[in-house]
Amino acid sequence: MNYHQEYQASIDNPEAFWLDKAQHLDWFTPPQTALSENTNGYPQWFKGGKLNTSYLALDHHVNAGRGDAAALIYDSPVTNTQETWTYNTLLNEVATLAGALTSLGVTKGDTVIVYMPMIPQAAVAMLAVARIGAIHSVVFGGFAASELAVRIDDAEPALIITASCGIEGKKLLPYKPMVDDAIALARHKPVGCVVYQRQQLNASLVDDFDHDWQALCNASEPVSCTPVDATDPLYILYTSGTTGKPKGVVRDNGGHAVALNYSMQAIYGIDQGDVFWAASDVGWVVGHSYIVYGPLIKGATTVMFEGKPVGTPDAGAFWRMVEQHKINVLFAAPTAFRAIRKEDPEANCIARYDLSSLRTIFMAGERLDPPTYHWTVEKTGKPVVDHWWQTETGWPICSNPIGIEALSTKPGSSSVPTPGFNVRVLAANGEPVATGEKGAIAISLPLPPGCLTTIWRDHKRFTQGYLQEFEGYYSTGDNGYIDEEGFVFIMGRTDDVINVAGHRLSTGEMEEVLASHNAVAECSVIGVADVLKGQIPVGLVLLKDGVQVDEAAFEQELIAKVRNTIGPVASFKRAVIVNRLPKTRSGKILRKLLRQIAADEPINIPSTIDDPASVTEIADLMKHKGLVER
Ligand code: COA
Ligand code: AMP
Repeated sequence: MNYHQEYQASIDNPEAFWLDKAQHLDWFTPPQTALSENTNGYPQWFKGGKLNTSYLALDHHVNAGRGDAAALIYDSPVTNTQETWTYNTLLNEVATLAGALTSLGVTKGDTVIVYMPMIPQAAVAMLAVARIGAIHSVVFGGFAASELAVRIDDAEPALIITASCGIEGKKLLPYKPMVDDAIALARHKPVGCVVYQRQQLNASLVDDFDHDWQALCNASEPVSCTPVDATDPLYILYTSGTTGKPKGVVRDNGGHAVALNYSMQAIYGIDQGDVFWAASDVGWVVGHSYIVYGPLIKGATTVMFEGKPVGTPDAGAFWRMVEQHKINVLFAAPTAFRAIRKEDPEANCIARYDLSSLRTIFMAGERLDPPTYHWTVEKTGKPVVDHWWQTETGWPICSNPIGIEALSTKPGSSSVPTPGFNVRVLAANGEPVATGEKGAIAISLPLPPGCLTTIWRDHKRFTQGYLQEFEGYYSTGDNGYIDEEGFVFIMGRTDDVINVAGHRLSTGEMEEVLASHNAVAECSVIGVADVLKGQIPVGLVLLKDGVQVDEAAFEQELIAKVRNTIGPVASFKRAVIVNRLPKTRSGKILRKLLRQIAADEPINIPSTIDDPASVTEIADLMKHKGLVER
């Protein structure tokens, strides 16, 4: 089948299409029906099917005689470590930790928070939780204690699994004190914490609460997989919304496994025995889907890299990895390639390595800007694919489906809708726009398997946030257009979410932090273009009447406040004092207008504006402070 036939089949008869794809998995009880409705009246996949995701990722391959094949390569330039874990080894570690978790009382349906650096034990923790039918929630290491506390209160974990430290380039970051602070801040208290001690830094453990990972595993027996329903949750992954409270995206077991298994071949062209490297972090959706679950379910070799594209030790890190581990497909964010290009514009590092194993480079997390696309194609000589997806969908909505048929590439476009995703561009009134016209991008329901099924314990937020804007559609929050050949161009978010170095962040959340400063009357945080990170957040702050501050010291205070509350990942480095902020007569800050000023776009001054002169004033100030894109 070519792409168009495959895509059409998925849209014309999704049930037959996905039931067929489901047959490629080793179910305990194969599903008889593809689509039904859950108790919320929302579509669900494969009700009646029973499986275990950890079983598919590990036991299935070992049972098939592939136990000695490489499952996971760990490459850590920051600790000078390289390890290859076979499927046998990984299964043994996972089954033993699963036994340990069981001995601590964790059982099917419980939640477990995983706060880990990029070490194999992070994957072991996720797979062990899945093995006993519990639900993991991985929290990215770049978030501060209070962000972790918010997630603890929402997920209410039975247990937390962590490591003594993370290593970011040359920085050693103690994780355990951060977890302790988070637990102290949180209303919900887990029953304990399992700590993987790294030799670079030993964490002190609290008696009767903390458990040393190794000692616990030494005393535990491996356990087999607990069968779960296809519709049971596998994990919760928090992502930024427009408000300060992160959204707990819930992913099921059955649809997830079917979608990822399909995507490994259809999108990435990956088969058993291939080496697939997603240069992301287990704390993000890319890490869940394509460091841990996708490659392992497929029976490929996955790669965990504890390093950076530059600085560990140089801009040749990616290319060294490709040569050394014979990587077939590399997936990273455009920001990583911009960092490499900045340090090594002539690609001298590339020339040092043999890239012959590498078939394709995939990029996602933000729009692949054409200059980065052209540089990467020219310097590597490899096909480069921009593909678009979200934490919510869990796998790509649009891509060049090279495993089905390699289409021609259009720089600036994430190519065509993936089979299963009925992508539409809609006007504000919900009517489809004409070809080539810009609008809100929505996906006609049902979403294919693998996408979120709800927001953890807040189905109303799911409905209000995604399903209410356009009846019968899921709203992606992105806007863009589709050209006459069906290629999709994603142009940016329609909400207050920004994308910083491939990390999704909420400006609303940063505003809440700034507003909590005693001197701040009002504020707005906007994303400003940045050559390396794509966007960086900038705070525009109005002081309370009569308050005087030293501007430089005040800026540092605000920076520290965001860093301590949200975390270093926010990359919040600029705050500017303003005399007034453009607002509507009802007092709403005109954020869209501020974004237009920062992007140097034509400004639409709404008729509802209270003080039109504030626009020129703020535009001049932002220009003066170097905050306007040129
Ligand atoms: N634990 C603790 N701190 C972390 C962290 C983690 N897991 N990840 C990032 N941080 C910290 C960084 O050390 C940095 O701290 P600093 O302000 O003290 O320097 C801060 O958070 C910002 O990190 P980042 O935005 O990643 O900037 P960077 O300068 O360290 O690296 C890039 C820049 C472009 C190399 C890096 O952002 C990158 O590789 N991005 C790709 C992201 C990605 O893979 N996204 C997933 C989609 S595919
Ligand atoms: P996240 O949930 O962190 O994966 O972020 C999802 C958001 O990142 C999307 O809604 C887009 O705004 C943006 N994004 C991800 N990939 C792309 C891409 N290939 N092109 C354009 N935007 C992208």
